[in-house]
Formats: sequence, structure tokens, C-alpha cells
Amino acid sequence: MQEYFEFGLGGRVLYKNGLARELGQVLAEMGVGRAFIVTDKGVQSVGLLTPILESMAGSVELVGMIDDIPANSSVRVVEAATATLLAAEADVIIAVGGGSPMDSAKGMRLLATHGGRIADYEGYNVIPGRLLPMVAIPTTAGTGSEVTSIAVILDEEEGRKIALVSRYLYPDLAILDPELTLTLPPRLTAATGMDALAHAIETFVSTENNPFSDSLALAAIDMIATHLRDAVQTGSDLEARSRMLMASTMAGIAFSNSLLGVVHALAHAIGGKYQIHHGTLNALILPHAMLYNSVVAPERYVRIAWAMGVNAGGRSDSEVIVDGINAVRTLVADCGLPLRLRDLDIPEAALPELTALSLVEPAIFNNPRVATEEELLELLRAIW
Ligand SMILES: NC(=O)c1ccc[n+]([C@@H]2O[C@H](COP(=O)([O-])OP(=O)(O)OC[C@H]3O[C@@H](n4cnc5c(N)ncnc54)[C@H](O)[C@@H]3O)[C@@H](O)[C@H]2O)c1
Ligand SMILES: [Fe+2]
Repeated sequence: MQEYFEFGLGGRVLYKNGLARELGQVLAEMGVGRAFIVTDKGVQSVGLLTPILESMAGSVELVGMIDDIPANSSVRVVEAATATLLAAEADVIIAVGGGSPMDSAKGMRLLATHGGRIADYEGYNVIPGRLLPMVAIPTTAGTGSEVTSIAVILDEEEGRKIALVSRYLYPDLAILDPELTLTLPPRLTAATGMDALAHAIETFVSTENNPFSDSLALAAIDMIATHLRDAVQTGSDLEARSRMLMASTMAGIAFSNSLLGVVHALAHAIGGKYQIHHGTLNALILPHAMLYNSVVAPERYVRIAWAMGVNAGGRSDSEVIVDGINAVRTLVADCGLPLRLRDLDIPEAALPELTALSLVEPAIFNNPRVATEEELLELLRAIW
């Protein structure tokens, strides 16, 4: 049990089917008059902005928009877009999309408020004070960025992902509208859902776990195990979409407080070098990392297995743990996601460099098992 911990609740969370169509009213009630939107082409092309813009018409002025945020965000794009945000004199920044637009908006509100470059704020608690208000409207059920104190932004020139962690990064309001996730294609539904599962499982075993985060993480694991297959296989299943959106937000609150581990350390190291979707990497790393970590926290992995739907049936803990890991592996396979790094065109020769990079990723420091370079390389070889 932790002797000391801090648990932050972040901003407000509003949930309702079709809530995006009422955004204008919600913003007007907050006293917002001038809004700036951050989104990407994919979100725009499936028509998700239309209800939002229609609801704002007449009550909130749209004073600017950046609509071409790239996957994994980008230091270059965020720094350039900040000038546009400043010129617009907005009183709120609204991110509509997955983790990439949400984290980009976090980076923009940071630079617009305090100046400088993204790298100036890298790491924990470097940001000096409050930021331009932000509303986050997730259209994927995965990152939980709508409720986290974290932004992850790719520095293309250096080939690494920069992580910023500060309570000032919490969006002021998260709008959870499951209808916005209905258009997400099966592959992205699966990969983003596995990102959420990785958040819940990693934070439940992290060195910073606490009973507040535990309860959210276990509930999220249960909801994802129950509903992800339906969301992937029947994209129009609003009940499954709604449960996945809630689970990803709950996992977000949990890991924003209790942090992550080796899965994200490896995924960030690989994602800095290769343009591969974050959740896709987490999905294939997760079962291997569970096996690696389970020796140091067996009682936690038994509880994860229960949450994954494993029936203990009087068997030994070690059998139940293996069943829990297999339940995750089966979920990855059932969702049609790749199971090996080689399927993503990562050369075997790159594994030593990726090992070295993952050893300095912040997430590695909260992994329950202290990983040596040899062990991480072995883990990567097993995944390759
Ligand atoms: N800040 C955090 O707490 C946190 C946590 C985990 C991951 N991340 C970061 O988030 C990023 C990944 O975010 P993501 O997984 O949400 O993906 P994403 O935001 O990169 O979106 C992936 C693709 O899905 C499309 N898309 C999004 N919503 C859609 C919808 N409803 N219908 C159709 N297409 C849609 C987008 O246009 C894009 O092409 C990574 O950079 C990762 O490092 C951040
Ligand atoms: Fe993640």
C-alpha cells in the first residue's frame, strides 16, 4: 500500500449520446464567446465537425481552426499553429478527435499561455501555471487524453516522442458523446481500445497504484473485455461504443494519477522511430509485458484475470494468471490486430537501439519490475 499519494480529478466530464449537438449551449453556459477548434482531416471527412459547428452557430463565434493535425501530433505543427491560435484571441481551445488533436491542443494552449518551445516543458511538473481553457471531445475510445494531465508530442527531427506531465494540462471539460465514435473503422476501434486496456492494466500494476486508481482500472478492464469485440465487429453498436468510451475515460483518470510501465516505454520508443499507431503497438506488447511483470505482482495479475472474465474455479494463482494473459492475447487476435513486430516492418536489427531508447522513457520508471537492458531486449525479441 502507498504511504502517500495524490489523486487529481481533473476537469468536468459530461456524458450523453448526441451531446456534441448541444455543445453551443454548454459553451454559452460556460461564458465562452470565441472558440478555436483543433482537429484532423480524418475526423472532418466523416462529418464529425458538422453537428458541433451547427450547435455553435449564433451563440459562440468560431475564431479559428487548425484541421490538419498529423497522427502522433508534431512539435513542428504545434509550434507553428500556436501563432494562429494567439492571433485569433480565443477564450477556449476545443479539440475534436483522438489523442493526436487532443495532445496537440494541449501543446498549443501551453505555448500560447507561457511561450517557448515544447521541449522546454518536457517531463514532470515543469509548466509554471494555468493555461488557456480547453474542451476535449474524444472521437476515439482509447487515449483518455480528454481527462489526463499528459500530452505526448512527436519530435520528428529527433525521432522521439516528448511527454509533458502537469496538472495544468487537464482539459477543463471533457464531452463524452459515443455517437462520435460510430464512424471509427474496425482496425482503429480495436487499436484504440487496446490502448485503453493497456492503460488500465499498466496503471493497476504500476509502482504508483492506489485504491482510487485501482477501482477505475479494474472497472475499465471489465468493460473493455466485455464490449471491445462488439465495438470492433459491429461498429453501429451504440451500447458497446458507449461502454468503450466510458472505459477509456475511466482508464485515463486512473493512469493520469498512477502512471504506466514497460508497455508504454516500449511503444513510445518504437513510435518515435516508426510511424505506427500507438494502440497497435501497445496491443502486441501487452501480453508479453504481462507475462514479464506477473512474477513480481502475482496477486494483482490474478485480479486482472478476474476482470478479464477468467473464472478461477479453485485453480492455482499461476494458472489463473496465465488464463488472464491468454484472455488479452485472444482479444488482440479476435480484434484482427497484428501479433508481432515483424508484421509492422520493424527490422530485427533495430531491436538493440529500441531497447536503449525505452530504458530512458519516463514510463519505464513506474514499471513494477525493474527492467535491465538484457531483459528488455529479450522481451522485444519475443515480440518481434
Ligand atoms: N495524452 C495522453 O494521455 C495520451 C494517452 C495515450 C496516447 N496518447 C497519444 O495519442 C495519440 C494517438 O491517439 P489516437 O489513438 O486516438 O489516434 P489519432 O488521434 O492519431 O487518430 C487516428 C486516426 O483516426 C481517425 N479518427 C479519429 N476519430 C475518428 C472517428 N470517430 N471516425 C473516423 N476516423 C476517426 C483520425 O482522423 C486519424 O486518422 C498518440 O500520439 C499517443 O501517443 C496520449
Ligand atoms: Fe497509451
